[in-house]
Amino acid sequence: MTATADPMAAPASWRGLPAAQQPDWPDRGHLQAVTDELAGLPPLVFAGECDVLRERLAAVARGQAFVLQGGDCAETFAGATADAVRAKLQTLLQMAVVLTYGASVPIIKIGRMAGQFAKPRSRPDEIRDGIELPAYRGDAINGFEFTAQARTPDPARLLRAYHCSAVTLNLCRAFATGGFADLHQVHAWNQDFVAQSPAGQRYERLAGEIDRALAFMRACGADPEELHAVEFYSSHEALLLDYEQALTRRDSRTGLPYDTSAHFVWVGERTRDLHGAHIDFASGICNPVGVKVGPDTKPSDVLALINTLNPDREPGRVTLITRMGAGRVREVLPPLIKAVIAEGIEIPWICDPMHGNTFEAPSGHKTRRLHDVLDEVQGFFEVHRGLGTHPGGIHIEFTGDNVTECVGGSHEIAAGDLHQRYETACDPRLNRGQALDLAFIVADSYHS
Ligand code: PEP
Ligand code: CO
Repeated sequence: MTATADPMAAPASWRGLPAAQQPDWPDRGHLQAVTDELAGLPPLVFAGECDVLRERLAAVARGQAFVLQGGDCAETFAGATADAVRAKLQTLLQMAVVLTYGASVPIIKIGRMAGQFAKPRSRPDEIRDGIELPAYRGDAINGFEFTAQARTPDPARLLRAYHCSAVTLNLCRAFATGGFADLHQVHAWNQDFVAQSPAGQRYERLAGEIDRALAFMRACGADPEELHAVEFYSSHEALLLDYEQALTRRDSRTGLPYDTSAHFVWVGERTRDLHGAHIDFASGICNPVGVKVGPDTKPSDVLALINTLNPDREPGRVTLITRMGAGRVREVLPPLIKAVIAEGIEIPWICDPMHGNTFEAPSGHKTRRLHDVLDEVQGFFEVHRGLGTHPGGIHIEFTGDNVTECVGGSHEIAAGDLHQRYETACDPRLNRGQALDLAFIVADSYHS
């Protein structure tokens, strides 16, 4: 160690490397003041919690648990309300119950929540009616409104992102352990929904079976505490490295660095350059981390990413989140899995069936077909079954509200309906009924 190195400082080696998708902050001094302030604020999560999640993910790699990870494509500050957070958590809990009951496997619940405020964009600018402005990059950076003022990156937004993450996580923690997530509430989560959709009605029947099982257990004198609360973890894409570094702290027990902005962070398809800043940052923190991999990923890329992020082969440390597209998953996923097996590596594989299946509807709305989403998940299961590996989970974009952003579902949404409630700040999300439809299909096909 050199005389000037501060052993308690957060790892900063990424600063010397190319960092894709960073905002063009107009005032670097303001950014510095904000990140200094963030660095003095309390951690949002604790190192010990991240360690438990890493153990859970190690169990996923061994085939003993299944991940349900999901939430908005882009959270918004306006969406950090009790109602919106509860609706999302309720949907996640309902999906988890369907999966636990149908697939008979422990479900690790990870929200794309409490920090998902920054987005990579395919173009830095957006043009409307001949006017060119910076693209919306998420509420942590600029505003959605198409005005020069809103679209100018503002570092003060990073502080709001931190505070919105804190209130969201606080709500999630309270809902997860304060009685709301008690399995005896399995009917209550559905009350406002049962009449609205076929998925809600199918869920109601399942909830009835669970109720009977719980009554039976109670009659036997069994009332395990696991039924009264759930473990909930937060996650987001580690995109804004200034923010992530400001939230990175040394664990007081071990002196090791953890990114305390979330339990789990992932590096996106567009920023996972092996020699870039994002992978360097992720390699320096001890949280469990994910990497998104798309259809053009080569087996050698996957092995290099695993070696860089997890040289010690710590179980559960790196998760691969595949997002291949329904049409390609059966062809492009096998070589990646085979390469990993050949190295004797066991990792959690998670299927993101959303990002490879986006298209533009005739109305101009960015959308996805539930049919394609289901097909990619089925393809993911088929490939893993064929190779004897474990399909470890799903990563989805959904909301608890009754939006019309993706087409299809048992309560059919047609392309012509998309305008009715198209509310996403970024990619189209499954609504609650479509999310439950997906959970039932995944539960049915997990063992088949
Ligand atoms: C996302 O998860 O919203 C995203 C941008 O995904 P990807 O990095 O896979 O494109
Ligand atoms: Co998205």
